[in-house]
Amino acid sequence: MERVAKVAVIGAGVMGASIAAHVANAGVPVVLLDIVPKTGDDRSAIARGAIEKLLKADPAPFMTPAAAKLVTPGNTEDDLGLLSDCDWIVEAVVERLDVKQALYARLDAVRKPGSVVSSNTSTIPLARLVEGLPERFTQDFIITHFFNPPRYMRLLEVVTGPTTRPDAAAMIGDFADRRLGKSVVRCKDRPGFIANRLGVFWLQAGVIESLEHFVTIEEADVVIGRPMGIPKTGVFGLLDLVGLDLMPHVVGSMAGALPADDLFHTVRKPVPVIERMIADGYTGRKGKGGFYRLNREEGRRKEAIDLVTGVYRPERKTRVDAVEEAGRSLEALLRHDSPHGRYARAVLVKTLAYAALLIGDAVDEVDAIDEAMRLGYNWKWGPFELIDRIGVDAFMRLAGEMGLPIAPILKTAAGRSFYRVEDGKREVLGLDGAYRPLVRPEGVVMLEDIKLAAEPVLKNGSAALWDIGDGVACFEFTSKMNALDPDTLDLLGKSLKVVGQRFKAMVVYNEASNFSVGANIGLALFAANIASWGQIELLVGAGQLTYKQVKYAPFPVVGAPSGMALGGGCEILLHCHAVQAHAETYMGLVEVGVGVVPGWGGCKEMVDRWRTLGRLPKGPMPAVGKAFEIISTATVAKSAAEAKDLLFLRPTDGITMNRYRLLADAKARALAMVAEHKPPKPPVFEWMPGPSGAAAMGLAVDQFAKLGKATPHDVVVGTELARVLSGGEADLIDTLSEDDMLALERRAFMTLIRKPATLARVEHMLDTGKPLRN
Ligand code: NAI
Repeated sequence: MERVAKVAVIGAGVMGASIAAHVANAGVPVVLLDIVPKTGDDRSAIARGAIEKLLKADPAPFMTPAAAKLVTPGNTEDDLGLLSDCDWIVEAVVERLDVKQALYARLDAVRKPGSVVSSNTSTIPLARLVEGLPERFTQDFIITHFFNPPRYMRLLEVVTGPTTRPDAAAMIGDFADRRLGKSVVRCKDRPGFIANRLGVFWLQAGVIESLEHFVTIEEADVVIGRPMGIPKTGVFGLLDLVGLDLMPHVVGSMAGALPADDLFHTVRKPVPVIERMIADGYTGRKGKGGFYRLNREEGRRKEAIDLVTGVYRPERKTRVDAVEEAGRSLEALLRHDSPHGRYARAVLVKTLAYAALLIGDAVDEVDAIDEAMRLGYNWKWGPFELIDRIGVDAFMRLAGEMGLPIAPILKTAAGRSFYRVEDGKREVLGLDGAYRPLVRPEGVVMLEDIKLAAEPVLKNGSAALWDIGDGVACFEFTSKMNALDPDTLDLLGKSLKVVGQRFKAMVVYNEASNFSVGANIGLALFAANIASWGQIELLVGAGQLTYKQVKYAPFPVVGAPSGMALGGGCEILLHCHAVQAHAETYMGLVEVGVGVVPGWGGCKEMVDRWRTLGRLPKGPMPAVGKAFEIISTATVAKSAAEAKDLLFLRPTDGITMNRYRLLADAKARALAMVAEHKPPKPPVFEWMPGPSGAAAMGLAVDQFAKLGKATPHDVVVGTELARVLSGGEADLIDTLSEDDMLALERRAFMTLIRKPATLARVEHMLDTGKPLRN
């Protein structure tokens, strides 16, 4: 297949600039053009300014600042020539047909034959975009609809036209999948494609029905949230995020393009309060505030708006009886005899009924709609998975009672479900009424699928070991938030034995949103409260021992994290022979946040890494100082690329852009290591700075405390950390072993865990999820 080696993005606004940033994240050079500004000398100021803005944005569009160097800014008057060697040109200019069409004619004159041009339009049909353009152009033209922010949202909707070359879409689809990490969903050329057509319908229904049923916005966000597997921003919190002012445009253009009998029109009603909010600049988080706002005058009070009166009032923490009483039963919530139950029903049943109506219209496959809503709106379950949870027949009764149209696909599914498991394989119902196996893209291996067909090799309450084929085993954390506890360590130790006997290699991987949040500090707090110091020391020792067994295993162990890998979760990765990380991995040794030091080999590994891989000036201090800087500030890498800069990952470790491809890549890496595998040589810690080094770092912490940047307990923890990293009482001529360093870690940990200020930090973290600055 043709390769995409260079990309251009036209339009350096919200979407264009961050699409360009994400192409750069993939390591691919990209040209970013916008118009010439009316004033000023710099004719490329818009694109250049956009890149500067991206570098300051949070969440960061670039995975590392270095990626920005791959973006070349320019303007559409002087620099169209830069497009002549681009394989893909993405148009992301204003949403106006005339502007887009005029641009296409100019692009066609300069682009190289066979290059693909795509539009990021959210509402204009492909057929209209290419009207009047030569077939030479329409053959190479597709829609690639990214979601905002493009680095983080995994959905990419792709639309092709009747004359599009199949390999044009295939080339971009493959690049988007492997290099940009997107899940590509093919849609028909219909208004709003899939995710926004349904998502906007849902949001509109959420707003309008809240007025019908007299529920407050806080109540609405509780009901249309967790119980449905929808992020806790619910309806109103999400609208604040995307911007209230965007909605009237999208709703208007969608309504204008859909036939008069489309259910969409039933959720299009003016809401006077919202119209006034937009007019007054209350457009959400980017404006003066939205449905929720922080009232800076009244002591930074959190407020919510009353949708009937339009007046802000203090935000109310809400407990909704209907949600509590329904528990895990979605049908019970939808049938709850209360305004909240009726609200839940009005919004969800209508939205799901509409989803069913989209089958055959926007797309033919139910799993495409589910994937689009999971990845485009972060729903835990897609619409058809939700219908399965309610039960297809129960759902049809509800929809019938509400007088909603019953889509043909629902009638097809009557008495059955949309998904089923047959012979250990997940299947989905098709338009023709037959089930077909759900096939993953080529090369994708998911533990979720393996689990359907097999029993674990080993398992306890906190972890499991799976056979993932070809002689490779997968060690999976399964505890709440993947917090690590004695059971995790116990099963890890047992797994290493079993893998040594029956497998060739092991990967450490799981499919939760976070690889691991670290050791279970609740257990440590419990033991500390009953003064079970011996038990705590045993746990610290057990972690050190087991992680050392990982490091010296006679077979390759490959860590494969995604999401947060903190504390003990980071330390296990430091002990793996190699890591294949998802690009969105956030590694850090954050122990000081709970008043302790890394105690499972994290201190020792970081000193060793910075000494051997750090490219720092020679001498006892630089590497130790660097490790101190990173650990004492609880620095968390905001991407796998950044983890390499911090040496949480080695330069040789791999990065996988697509979450779905992580396990396959990790497994392939492990297998490639089998033949040559030798456990590493134990490090020796010579020439350690010892007490004088610790004193120097101690001084630095004192200085921070004087400036108000470090708290009293930071000083205590920092002093202990400095002692460990500099080698305790060691003299420059002493040589410390790995075990000596581990003993220092253990001692510092045990000193700190006995301090009330540390326990206060632990308790606060467990209560609030945030560090206590004491
Ligand atoms: P924007 O208004 O932030 O940026 C548009 C940029 O295009 C501006 O910098 C403007 O100067 C530039 N521009 C206008 N005419 C141009 C021309 N002839 N040549 C070169 N540059 C030109 O708009 P935004 O939000 O980035 O949207 C861009 C496209 O992406 C639109 O088609 C929109 O529908 C679509 N989209 C927007 C999403 C969003 O969340 N904002 C999400 C998905 C798609």
